[in-house]
Amino acid sequence: MVDMRDDVVLKQSLYAAERGASTRHGLTIDEAFIRGIRHIGYRSNLHAFAELIDNSIQAYAQRVDLVFGYAKGGSAKKPDRIAVIDDGHGIPAAMMRLAMMWGGTHREDDREGLGRYGYGLPCAAVSIGRRFTVISKLENGPILQTCLDLDELEKGAYRTQTGHILLPEASPAQLPDFIEEHVNRNYPLGWQSGTVILLEKLDRVEWTTALGMRSNLLRHLSVTYHKILELTALYVDDTRVRAVDPLFLTPSADHFALDDDRAIALEPVAITIRNPRTNREGIVELRYAWLPPTFGALDKQRDAVGLNANERFSFLKDYHGLVFSRNGRLIDVHTRLPWTVFINNDRYIRVEIEFSAVLDELFGVTTSKQQVSVSDQIWHALRQAGMHKAIEQLRSKVKEAKLNRPRIIPAELQREPTSRSPMMQAPTGAGRRNSSVSSVAERSPSLLVRNPDGGLRANSSHPLFDGSAGAAACGQALKKLVDMLAGHSSSTGARTDYEYGDLLARWSKSAWPD
Ligand SMILES: Nc1ncnc2c1ncn2[C@@H]1O[C@H](COP(=O)(O)OP(=O)(O)OP(=O)(O)O)[C@@H](O)[C@H]1O
Ligand SMILES: [Mg+2]
Repeated sequence: MVDMRDDVVLKQSLYAAERGASTRHGLTIDEAFIRGIRHIGYRSNLHAFAELIDNSIQAYAQRVDLVFGYAKGGSAKKPDRIAVIDDGHGIPAAMMRLAMMWGGTHREDDREGLGRYGYGLPCAAVSIGRRFTVISKLENGPILQTCLDLDELEKGAYRTQTGHILLPEASPAQLPDFIEEHVNRNYPLGWQSGTVILLEKLDRVEWTTALGMRSNLLRHLSVTYHKILELTALYVDDTRVRAVDPLFLTPSADHFALDDDRAIALEPVAITIRNPRTNREGIVELRYAWLPPTFGALDKQRDAVGLNANERFSFLKDYHGLVFSRNGRLIDVHTRLPWTVFINNDRYIRVEIEFSAVLDELFGVTTSKQQVSVSDQIWHALRQAGMHKAIEQLRSKVKEAKLNRPRIIPAELQREPTSRSPMMQAPTGAGRRNSSVSSVAERSPSLLVRNPDGGLRANSSHPLFDGSAGAAACGQALKKLVDMLAGHSSSTGARTDYEYGDLLARWSKSAWPD
């Protein structure tokens, strides 16, 4: 025992002797700090990217892009660099090194926006890769950059003779090719000002392909920033992120008007709570909605399982419980409340708690702003504001709607895919509105067929497409489709025009294919 203790003391002495020469005795051992903080970090890459997007939004960017870069001669499927590019106000040269430092912020303890700690940028960057570069340009200024490479840091490249770590000063730079190409394509007047965070040596990316990365980011950012996307256009790999309100109450957001089902809101509630730590008051807004039991289903006669789940369903599943949003940005979802637990059936009740960052201490907001840990004071205030009653009311609305729902084919009797897929089969019963179209479809149920690669396409031997249904039936079917597009367009605004506008414009001018 004594030997072991001596051993440890010896190790300590050796370590101190070795370090003592090269370390200033501040609060951290820099290399070890960074090695550790890389792994403390974020629940997922998504949360790390959200930090960088938050910064762009706070820099008044109108456009933020996540852009992938690929190694020359390397895989075209897996990016080896990712850049977050914005057209915000940029960073002054003297601030660039500070922005890279843990704790460097010009908005220390600010409660008006998204950031307040000075950790977001460096923490997020090193949680994804071993090298990051901040490239920035003020209006009418030059492009400057500064870089931190963790391999170089380990080798001692940033250490001065006095033992200090010194980040390199901002120096003139050129945009890397893939960023330059992106900027030329998307900024017709040039990149006037803004910031790029370039992440390289990506050793902690969770997704194996660009495709997976793109679709995951698009899905989750659409909810995380659904309240902000009107002001800031966010793109992932050239695809615009569309807002999805997890309560499905926003007419301009995606999936609001996917079909005839709509979310039904209860009266929202706003309460003011005093934060005893800061002695400031902050507002908490509660939004409530319940959804018809068919809300997540394509064929309303059947349960929302397997291929009968519509595009809403995954959002019902992933954002199930109390949704917490801080200063307009979603940060967490909880299924456990002190007085009740959200079970699967509760997917059809939707509750959002939007709170001011003034109340961060009471919501237990952590530095990485990816979770809440709600205090008793807040739970108490939420109960006082009637949340428990509202949740019960929502539950009984859903229950009642389920009882009144027309007969549903139970899940165990529903055979999966091809022959019974709702997309592949015309609706029956109450789903039928147009008898001539339905009867055509009954004769040949497969409107869509599957490609060998698993995708869907129109079945060219269906009567609606091979001419045998007759002009009237085809005309009615087409009119219904255009009506749906128009309805979708009025609820989702310019986005649908963007997608279908060309096609509809050509059809309007009688310019259809031969
Ligand atoms: N895209 C950007 N545009 C302009 N300035 C930026 C940008 N990103 C970072 N900065 C500057 O760098 C500083 C550090 O950013 P960082 O994300 O680390 O901290 P923060 O946003 O102030 O607080 P938090 O840790 O809560 O995010 C910011 O305070 C800001 O001055
Ligand atoms: Mg930040």
